[in-house]
Amino acid sequence: MIIAIDGPAASGKSTTSRGVATRMGITYLDTGAMYRAITLGLMEHGVSFKALGSITEFLDTVNIYFGDSNSGNKIFLNDRSVTDQIRSSTVTEKVSEVSAINVVRDSMVQIQREIADNTDCVLEGRDIGTVVFPNADFKFFLVAGLEIRALRRQKDLNKIGEKKTIDEIKADIRLRDELDTNRDNSPLLKAKDAIEIDTGLLTVDEQIDKIVSIIKQ
Ligand code: DC
Repeated sequence: MIIAIDGPAASGKSTTSRGVATRMGITYLDTGAMYRAITLGLMEHGVSFKALGSITEFLDTVNIYFGDSNSGNKIFLNDRSVTDQIRSSTVTEKVSEVSAINVVRDSMVQIQREIADNTDCVLEGRDIGTVVFPNADFKFFLVAGLEIRALRRQKDLNKIGEKKTIDEIKADIRLRDELDTNRDNSPLLKAKDAIEIDTGLLTVDEQIDKIVSIIKQ
C-alpha cells in the first residue's frame, strides 16, 4: 500500500505522515529529507549547483539511507547521521535550487520507488501523488495558513538552536513555495484525486485520525 502525503513547506506533512505510518505499522519515508541531505553533501564538497557533471559524479558515489534510533528516524549520508544538520537554515535556503535539478530528482525518485515498491509506505513530499506514485492507493494534500506554518518552522529552528523572526521565516517559506511550485520538473502540485486537509484547523491527533479513518473506511 502506498500513501502519498504532499503539500507546501511546513504544512504539517512530517508530523502527520510519521503519525499515520506509526498507527498503520508501516514505513515512513520523508523524501524532503533526501533532497536536503543531497544539498548538504553538495555544499560540503564544494560542488557548484551548475556543475552537472560533478553533481552526477557525487550522486553516483553517495549513499543515502534511513535508520531508526531511540530518538526516532535518522537519515544517513555516507554512514554519517545528518538528521539535525539538514534542518539548518543554510540547507533550507538552498534545497529548492538543488531539488529542481533533473539528475538529482531522477536519482532520488529511483531510490524512493525502490524502497516503496518493496514495502507498505507513507511517503511525504511535493510530487509523490503526481509523479513518484501517480497510482498511490491514497493521496492527501496538506495545507495551512502562512502564520501557522511560520510558527511551526520557528519551533523546529529553536530545537536546533537557530533564531529567526516570524517575518524572516514567512519570507523564507514564501520563496521556497514559489520555487517549488514554479519549477519545470515535478512542481509542487495537488494531484486531481488528492484529498485536501487544512492542518491549521486540526490538532496533530485529529490530522492523523482523519487520514487513518479515510484509509480504513
Ligand atoms: O519537506 P521539506 O521542507 O523537508 O522539503 C525540502 C525541499 O525538498 C522542498 O523545498 C522541495 C524539495 N522536495 C521536492 O522537491 N520533492 C519532494 N518530494 C520533497 C521535497
